[in-house]
Amino acid sequence: MDPELKSEAISETSLLWEGRLGLASSEIFSNYVDSIGFDVVLAPYDVEVSRAHVKMLNATQIVDSETCQKILDAFDVISHEISSGEFHACLVPTDEDIHTAIERRLTELTGDAGRALHTGRSRNDLAQMSGRLYTRDALDRIRTRVEHAVGTLCALAEKNIETVFPGKTHLQHAQPILLSHWLMSHASRLMNDRERIMQAYDRVNVCVLGSGALAGSTLPLDIDFVSKELGCSKISDNSIFAVSTRDYITEVLFVCAQIVSNLSCLGEDIVWMTSTECGYATLSDNFSSGSSMMPQKKNPDIAELVRGKAGLSIGSLTGALAATKSQIFGYNHDLQVDKEALFSSIKDCELSIVAMDAMMETTTFNSAVCENSLVNQPLALATDIAEEMVKNGTPFRIAYKAVAVCIKRALDAELSAEEIIQYMRDDDLIGQASIHVFGDKGTLPLDSILRSIERRTTKGGTATKRVLEQIEAVSKIVSS
Ligand code: ARG
Repeated sequence: MDPELKSEAISETSLLWEGRLGLASSEIFSNYVDSIGFDVVLAPYDVEVSRAHVKMLNATQIVDSETCQKILDAFDVISHEISSGEFHACLVPTDEDIHTAIERRLTELTGDAGRALHTGRSRNDLAQMSGRLYTRDALDRIRTRVEHAVGTLCALAEKNIETVFPGKTHLQHAQPILLSHWLMSHASRLMNDRERIMQAYDRVNVCVLGSGALAGSTLPLDIDFVSKELGCSKISDNSIFAVSTRDYITEVLFVCAQIVSNLSCLGEDIVWMTSTECGYATLSDNFSSGSSMMPQKKNPDIAELVRGKAGLSIGSLTGALAATKSQIFGYNHDLQVDKEALFSSIKDCELSIVAMDAMMETTTFNSAVCENSLVNQPLALATDIAEEMVKNGTPFRIAYKAVAVCIKRALDAELSAEEIIQYMRDDDLIGQASIHVFGDKGTLPLDSILRSIERRTTKGGTATKRVLEQIEAVSKIVSS
């Protein structure tokens, strides 16, 4: 061996590309280019990938068993240093990213043995493989949290199964519903998110090792071995694509943005439902804040913050899409920013689910207030009257107009709620149907509202039996 190339000639803290560049990196260069400041969270995943890689190098006889064992033993030490925080405290200025840092530490511990680890791989495929394992774990955690939140909504729906609630469109009373139906509408959103998480998981769980810098390797690597070792469900079919795509990251960023957006809709509903005007729900004191000046205040902070976080999550998605578009093929350093978006979005997503879940779990729904808000609102049953006329043979458009004209006349005459009901009962065209819907005397009793709800038996509708059906089906999935 050329003495110049002997391993002793390579200093232990050398740059990866030592030998090619004559000058060490400027501090300004390193501060801007290094990713160690954020990709340090990949440390356990780099170790997992590296362990599998060296076992494969040994199985294919590229690396002998003694070297392999030395590396695996050193990784036990490194893993312990990572979990105790010691590793992060001992980073050195030449640790450009987590992958460089781990290889440097391995070489400190094993000397020449460690220098064999990077055989047949590049940081381009290593960083992607570590990122994929990180993302796979994150998706698992997020799915578990989503399932827990769905369970909470099911429990709340069961507890409030009979509470009637003013169903809204355009924030106006539309049709009466069950509060449990509204709760389960948010469970439906999260169930779709759950499905998206599982679908994204399959595109994340791909083995990209063997791709090297971009073209594969001349060495007889056994990628089936390493893929199996890492629990991947598939091996990438193109090495250039493997090192340059970030589509699995933008997909996960979408999944997170959609989850937090869905939670922000729940947050918006809660802000409105706990408002002074509505009072439909009351937050627990330990999930609210007060005001520094106004002694009477109790604020829905989590429900508001989740709306803000949804904005940031959407920003991470659009930011990553913009950063990864128009890439000339192969690896380019712009791709490194993918992780900044990914890490912050995953963190916000997990925190948002946990916070909203805990807030919901402790929220009280005020059934009397919900009911009372409907008792004086006969117009919320206008569709029921038109549909009753349809059952008696009137085409819907004609029934609709007859009800609308009667309502307009009643409103123009500035009638009270009670007078409107009587006015509709007395109408030539819609009277019979109105009596059927409202009952034949008095104001709008709760019974009539409940009957309206129970008549909506279409699949997914607001009738109690349909809501119970959904609770049962959803609970079964998330508790299995
Ligand atoms: N830290 C880099 C990243 O996350 C990976 C290293 C690849 N760097 C390179 N110059 N080829 O994107």
